[in-house]
Amino acid sequence: MVTFNNSLFTIILAAGKGTRMRSSLPKVLHPIGGRSMIHYVLETAVELQSEQVALVVSDSQKAVVVEAQRTFPKLLPVVQEEQLGTAHAVLSTRAFIENYKGIILILFGDTPLIRHHTLSKVLNCFQNPSKPAVVIVGMELEDPKTYGRIVTSENNQVKAIIEHKEASENIRKIKLCNAGVMALDGAHAVKLLEKIVPQESNQEYYLTDIVTIARAEGLKVEVVVAQDSSEFEGVNTRKDLAESESKMQERWRNNALEQGVTMISPETVHFSYDTKIASDVMIHPFVNLGPNTIIEQDVTIRSFTDIEGSHIKKGSVVGPFARLRPGTVLEENAKIGNFVEVKNSLLGANTKVNHLSYIGDAVIGQKTNIGAGTITCNYDGFNKWQTEIGDGVSIGANTSLVAPLKIGDEAYIGAGSTITKDIAPQSLAVARAQVKEIEKGAVSLRKKKSTLTYEKDLG
Ligand code: UD1
Ligand code: CA
Repeated sequence: MVTFNNSLFTIILAAGKGTRMRSSLPKVLHPIGGRSMIHYVLETAVELQSEQVALVVSDSQKAVVVEAQRTFPKLLPVVQEEQLGTAHAVLSTRAFIENYKGIILILFGDTPLIRHHTLSKVLNCFQNPSKPAVVIVGMELEDPKTYGRIVTSENNQVKAIIEHKEASENIRKIKLCNAGVMALDGAHAVKLLEKIVPQESNQEYYLTDIVTIARAEGLKVEVVVAQDSSEFEGVNTRKDLAESESKMQERWRNNALEQGVTMISPETVHFSYDTKIASDVMIHPFVNLGPNTIIEQDVTIRSFTDIEGSHIKKGSVVGPFARLRPGTVLEENAKIGNFVEVKNSLLGANTKVNHLSYIGDAVIGQKTNIGAGTITCNYDGFNKWQTEIGDGVSIGANTSLVAPLKIGDEAYIGAGSTITKDIAPQSLAVARAQVKEIEKGAVSLRKKKSTLTYEKDLG
């Protein structure tokens, strides 16, 4: 017997207009945790080992397909020419599902919080001896808002789903709501979907009508009641987007805390979908971790630090007020202090950049000290150039390193220098105007100044 694992076809609906977002960007391309919302549902479909995944979009939203295919090239894009309702959207994949005998799972692109183990429960229903043709997901809500209501009989059989718009006062009192997710036995799916007729009120084909149709055919409909209804909350407005973001962040933070990360004020720390963070990392309040960041054991990230695309190795300390941009690698026990920006640079083990510096396109060795106010001048207005600094180098404060440039091991650069040529290992380099000292000059200067003031006052 085939299990659902090797016979699942997932359809993700995303052709809706999303007008309430008030945006020129398609709704499912709005970001959560540093990537487009559509990726969460896609990832869930992949985790469920779907054989194939179809994404239904409108004609004007082909950008959604391009974005989705970036991470899932095998995706089947389907255009729903006109948005005539959820059943119509599912039937626009007809060419793919017509002869499909596995299970067809229908998900919405705008519900990023769905977890695959909840959906596994839905799929497992098809192993039941009752052999359902349709499985829906219910959620008990104190405030059912405008969700469709699930009508059940005395013996708990699902009879119908009535949309809020069409529901009578009595039906609206029902608290068991339709979460939207649905799974169909492919052997019956198209036959049942074809029987759905448009609503009189708005000419829309409601997928939810499949319940009564299946029952009339003598087929079984089952409901899985979700334990955590927040998983099915859809994003319709910017407020919903912010709420979903905050729920997702809470999941990631709880996960990090469980994995042994210390956060002094967790609610002020933001992760990305792919943040990798080891145990015994200490994060101070107000830290933002952008996409593609790896933080190894025993690292400390201090307040008001923004990190993206960086790999921070064991024992390093970053911040407060630091910015690590993509391509930054800190080897073990490196130190980045306050008001330091690093971009596309490798800093060797035990190297320190403690204050007020910009390090861009640089490769720095081990045990090197970069003085306060050091700037790598990596851009000449046309091209970006690299700076190479060896091991055990000492760069004096307020130094400008004009790239391309190489500074050899154990070199020593005097403070305030503008270095425009390569410096050999162990050399001492100073490039600044000579100090001119005039003996007793201060006395004569003051005398001159005060005479002038005296004359001016008189005059
Ligand atoms: C739907 C359910 C409702 C359930 C709710 C849960 C129906 C008729 N109603 O209502 O019972 O409580 O979800 O959130 O299914 N879409 C298309 N093409 C269309 C219409 C919609 O692709 O022609 C897509 C939308 O982009 C969206 C999804 O289908 O991803 C759901 O559509 P939406 O209009 O939001 O349905 P609801 O009214 O929320
Ligand atoms: Ca919706």
